[in-house]
Amino acid sequence: MRRRDCRWYAFEFDPFYSIMSVDKDEEKIAAARASIRFVREGDIVGLGSGSTASYAIRFLADRVREGLKIRGIPTSAATKTLAESLGIPLTTLDELQEIDVDIDGADEIDPQLHLIKGGGGALLREKVIASAARKLVIVADSSKQVSILGKFPLPVEVITFAQALVAKKIAALGATVTVRRLANGAPYITDEGHRILDCSFGEIPDPPKLARALQSIPGVAGHGLFIDMASVALIAKGDEVLELKRNQDAIQSENT
Ligand code: 5RP
Repeated sequence: MRRRDCRWYAFEFDPFYSIMSVDKDEEKIAAARASIRFVREGDIVGLGSGSTASYAIRFLADRVREGLKIRGIPTSAATKTLAESLGIPLTTLDELQEIDVDIDGADEIDPQLHLIKGGGGALLREKVIASAARKLVIVADSSKQVSILGKFPLPVEVITFAQALVAKKIAALGATVTVRRLANGAPYITDEGHRILDCSFGEIPDPPKLARALQSIPGVAGHGLFIDMASVALIAKGDEVLELKRNQDAIQSENT
């Protein structure tokens, strides 16, 4: 890929950009760029959250400026602000409940394309949008590919009223549970006004079983396990982008 592009994008996103992050950013950009081929004229596009999805939104905006007609539905307030600033036409789930393709990032991706998401705190809206999408395309750098989920603490979004009770129930499932906080110590509040519990389970041998257990706890608004939702994962490794489809190994790689 072209290094010059990478530095331009990375610098614009992150004023504290350092040379140490170049390799990872190059991979994020390569995966993001590869995702744009899944978008067709007239599509309703789910716009993901996080740094890798933001790169994809930038590439999509380039295509919109070239004349591509699409409408986006953002998965977070931050993504809505970004998409608006780039001139991407937007719609809402109130207007349309069917999404052609959703492009989003992930914190971990296992070989079955089960995901951990929510590192950026947008997991609930991300899951709602993904559930309405015909195709969920995940974009990620190589650090996100794992053989078994669980090194990344699993984000669980909870209603504030129930947070202590839910934390206790999740701890009883075997996790170390921490309320997510901002740098100033205040609890992190999601776009839906909820709290996030970051739950360290260690290795998660049966993600669908844990997903069911979490969803059955009253007070849980959503959790970051995305089971059988991703259609494709585009994972950049050096100069290649691996395209993984659910229940398959890498089926294709391409030079970027
Ligand atoms: C936000 C998410 C992000 O997609 C996930 O955290 C990956 O982010 P990044 O691309 O910045 O590594 O789930 O809730």
